[in-house]
Amino acid sequence: MQPIISIKNLSKTYDTGHHALKDVNLDIQKGEILALLGPNGAGKTTLISIICGLVAPTGGSVTVDGYDIISDYRETRKRIGLVPQELAIAAFDKVFETVQYSRGLFGKKPDNAYLEQLLSDLSLSDKLTSELRALSGGMKRRVLIAKALSHEPRVLFLDEPTAGVDVELRKDMWKIVNRLREAGVTIILTTHYIEEAEAIADRVGVISGGELLLVDDKNNLMQKLGKKQLLIELKEPAQAIPESLAGYALALSKKGSEIIYTYDITSDGTGITALLQAMAEAGLTMKDLKTSQSSLEDIFVNLVNPQ
Ligand SMILES: Nc1ncnc2c1ncn2[C@@H]1O[C@H](COP(=O)(O)OP(=O)(O)O)[C@@H](O)[C@H]1O
Ligand SMILES: [Mg+2]
Repeated sequence: MQPIISIKNLSKTYDTGHHALKDVNLDIQKGEILALLGPNGAGKTTLISIICGLVAPTGGSVTVDGYDIISDYRETRKRIGLVPQELAIAAFDKVFETVQYSRGLFGKKPDNAYLEQLLSDLSLSDKLTSELRALSGGMKRRVLIAKALSHEPRVLFLDEPTAGVDVELRKDMWKIVNRLREAGVTIILTTHYIEEAEAIADRVGVISGGELLLVDDKNNLMQKLGKKQLLIELKEPAQAIPESLAGYALALSKKGSEIIYTYDITSDGTGITALLQAMAEAGLTMKDLKTSQSSLEDIFVNLVNPQ
């Protein structure tokens, strides 16, 4: 099957001389959800901006549905929706009108029923005539998504869709993404939260310093790189890890008031039940339990300095 997006030897050097992208190659299949994971400055927005025709590449090529993003710009742009990282919004526009207008820009026939359904899916039904300036940040972001979907694109780019949004909106966003996937829309999102990639992506690309370091099926990636930590808060601080627990990968922190257990996310058993049992037998009483996921930072360290 022909990929919906095909990126070949793509590079970008800005006028400042900065190499923001270095020879990126990537095929994206129809209907998949791809997360581009990378720290600030990695080149994520640059990559998306090139595909959407907002930034000119300095080398290589990209096709969308077989059309070249430069010579067939109109064809490629029609098929793409973009929710930009920055909240750029005209304060006095009204919700329904601005979404209608976006659709019109792409030369699509008016279809208010479609737009009403779209806005309803985004929980904006009661805001149709509100001015954008009257909306909360989260609501504004929903409007941006509606605008990006107004012309029924086959590919949706979400640039850091949940950076700085509240938990409720983040969950809603994931639901929206899933619904769009069911409708056959291909979704490319950038994020620096590995939890987000884990929650919704089929495939994950790791990008750093303008290079696509790897692209892999999410489960493979988590298997290769994922480690989780369990933070066990103790009722009484411990001086040292009891010898009977030497078989576990444990560390003491916070002056002995917390034990950190690192385990492999994907091994058959986490060993947590046995550990808690052994802790109780060693006389350690726990107050609270938390888990934390290896950060993108850890993953990069692993990628750059494989053990
Ligand atoms: N218009 C520009 N001119 C010069 N440098 C830029 C421009 N836009 C981005 N950059 C630089 O390119 C690098 C990648 O930026 P960007 O693609 O925005 O990264 P990300 O979205 O992953 O944070 C950064 O070092 C950034 O400072
Ligand atoms: Mg960015």
